[in-house]
Amino acid sequence: MRIDKLLANLGYGSRKDVKKILKTGKVSVNGGIVKDPKFHINPDIDTVVLNGEELHYRPFIYLMMNKPQGVISATEDLRDQTVIDLLAIEDTVLKPFPVGRLDKDTEGLLLLTNDGLLSHQLLSPKKHVPKTYYAVVKGEVTAQDILTFKNGVTLDDGYQTKPAILNILKSGLRSEIELTITEGKFHQVKRMFAAVGKKVVYLKRVSMGPLYLDDDLALGEYRELTEAEVTLLKEYTP
Ligand code: URA
Repeated sequence: MRIDKLLANLGYGSRKDVKKILKTGKVSVNGGIVKDPKFHINPDIDTVVLNGEELHYRPFIYLMMNKPQGVISATEDLRDQTVIDLLAIEDTVLKPFPVGRLDKDTEGLLLLTNDGLLSHQLLSPKKHVPKTYYAVVKGEVTAQDILTFKNGVTLDDGYQTKPAILNILKSGLRSEIELTITEGKFHQVKRMFAAVGKKVVYLKRVSMGPLYLDDDLALGEYRELTEAEVTLLKEYTP
């Protein structure tokens, strides 16, 4: 890999910016000053130092965000703020994208990564990765709804949902529930409740496969996944 690409990937600016840094003679590879942007290094073997600090190349970034309402799960949008707009500049260098979508008014767990393979594995309909949502529902959620969701409910377009696990946390005119689904149809949770005559008034994703939303993250905040979380995700088979 070229030294200018490595420095750019680590967030030291564009290739042009990086060229300027190299010119100053502040970058060394295995102890020798390197000024040529085309100089090739092996990130697994070579020691690259900038201003006395050793640099560690990594190809992937994995972020967990507590998505707030009003922000869309896309990389760019002409009208609305996106989840990428919430990231610090240095965290956008490796070009992470959201793994799946949450509605604009849905909060909670959103994974962002540039690891296309992992994203595909988590989203593939064949994998049936469970996703759990907490919701506040207008109307009384009943034991019958638990059965209906377990057997699959017919959505407005005729689609029959796969078995889902409904857990009633609080029943009343405003019910609180937890729902686990293994697919990701458009507006699925809201449409499942609409199919039984109820309206979701608040929705938050709390888990995706083995990954749970970190309670310490305020809305709009994010953090890198720990190595253990990345391994759990990669090795996960539902
Ligand atoms: N189901 C929905 O209705 N909305 C979401 O954002 C996620 C699941």
